Amino acid sequence: MKATGPIPPGYDIIGSELAIGGVMCSALVEQAGDTPLFVYSAGHLRQRMADLRAAMPERLAIHYAMKANPYSPLLSLMNGLVDGFDVASGGELELALGAGVEAARISFAGPGKRDREIEHAISLGVTLNCESEGEAARALAIGAQLGMAPRIAIRVNPSFDLKGSGMKMGGGAKQFGVDAERVPALAQHLIAAGADWRGFHIYAGSQALSADAIIAMQAQTLALVGELTEAIGVAPPHVNLGGGFGIPYFPGDEQVDIQAVGAALSAAFDALPDILSATDFCIELGRYLVGEAGVYLTRIVDRKISHGEIFLITDGGLHHQLAASGNFGTVIRRNYPVAIATRFGAEPEEVASIVGCLCTPLDKLSDSAHLPRADVGDLVAIFCAGAYGASASPAHFLGQGPAREMLV
Ligand SMILES: Cc1ncc(COP(=O)(O)O)c(C=O)c1O
Repeated sequence: MKATGPIPPGYDIIGSELAIGGVMCSALVEQAGDTPLFVYSAGHLRQRMADLRAAMPERLAIHYAMKANPYSPLLSLMNGLVDGFDVASGGELELALGAGVEAARISFAGPGKRDREIEHAISLGVTLNCESEGEAARALAIGAQLGMAPRIAIRVNPSFDLKGSGMKMGGGAKQFGVDAERVPALAQHLIAAGADWRGFHIYAGSQALSADAIIAMQAQTLALVGELTEAIGVAPPHVNLGGGFGIPYFPGDEQVDIQAVGAALSAAFDALPDILSATDFCIELGRYLVGEAGVYLTRIVDRKISHGEIFLITDGGLHHQLAASGNFGTVIRRNYPVAIATRFGAEPEEVASIVGCLCTPLDKLSDSAHLPRADVGDLVAIFCAGAYGASASPAHFLGQGPAREMLV
């Protein structure tokens, strides 16, 4: 038997079923028309933002990294909750604009921006987080052609990373950002060339659960901002301190202590040098804002036994939930939080594996978990499906096609 991750708070039982946003799963599936289905809870999203705002210093703006979930109704909701959006491609920029996000509240990071993406961003007044000297030169040239001063921040490749993070984005050679020691010269060049200087974007890593690690990373980031500012001689109007707040996916994982992070950041803001007194600060979060608000529902279509082991075979799989199958950047496969949604709260009776409908042994949604007895027709819930689910999975593999999505 293998343990499963902790079911996020905020989900209820109605009758014997999992309810999301006060509606039973079977009713949600009926409303959507079929399984597989991603359900995102608006109540959960609102609560998460309210709790985060209460814990963080008022001076800190909160941005949404929409790579975590670009579902249009969810973007529209987030637009009313957060202070800015970070996009990672021209495609995400279009989706953000389509959801009503003002261009002035968008920043665009990511290596490999194409000229037409840069041109579109500059013409709209989106902030480019430039990832290299080459990209900055292209942005200046395109700005000159357009007769516009491009809004430019420099993404810095810091010499440190986020300890304990699932994905390190700083420290040593990286394809992201400009190495910190070359940033002052580039910033001075941009300012002299007439760019609309926006400041720094410093993103050191993702998916950290330790408040101490996040606090240490933020302290290092603020110290670096102080050093860069002194070397450049001009205060940055804006600094993106990165993000990295993780969510508990696996057995033993615990929630980030956001009170501790907020208190440390408040103290750090109070101790900033005078030159940064007018600088705006933000953090940029993806999964922390939306991950636990999403549930993937898939129906059991077969129940079989092989060499004494029970397999619950569903109509979903890794083509929608690559991360839960353990194939999206994890080294050792562990079980996400799962439940039999139509027998939610029932006592576990058997050890069974929940698998998808693809013909690959990688298509395992849950391995040897202790579950209530489930049968053909029952719904399975995979939690923590609000981030890097639908848009980060190979939906067209084996001709399966995308899952349905709904915001409730
Ligand atoms: C630049 C940048 N911002 C934001 C994120 C979002 O990370 P998360 O969803 O873990 O908050 C990432 C993730 O890789 C990133 O690279």
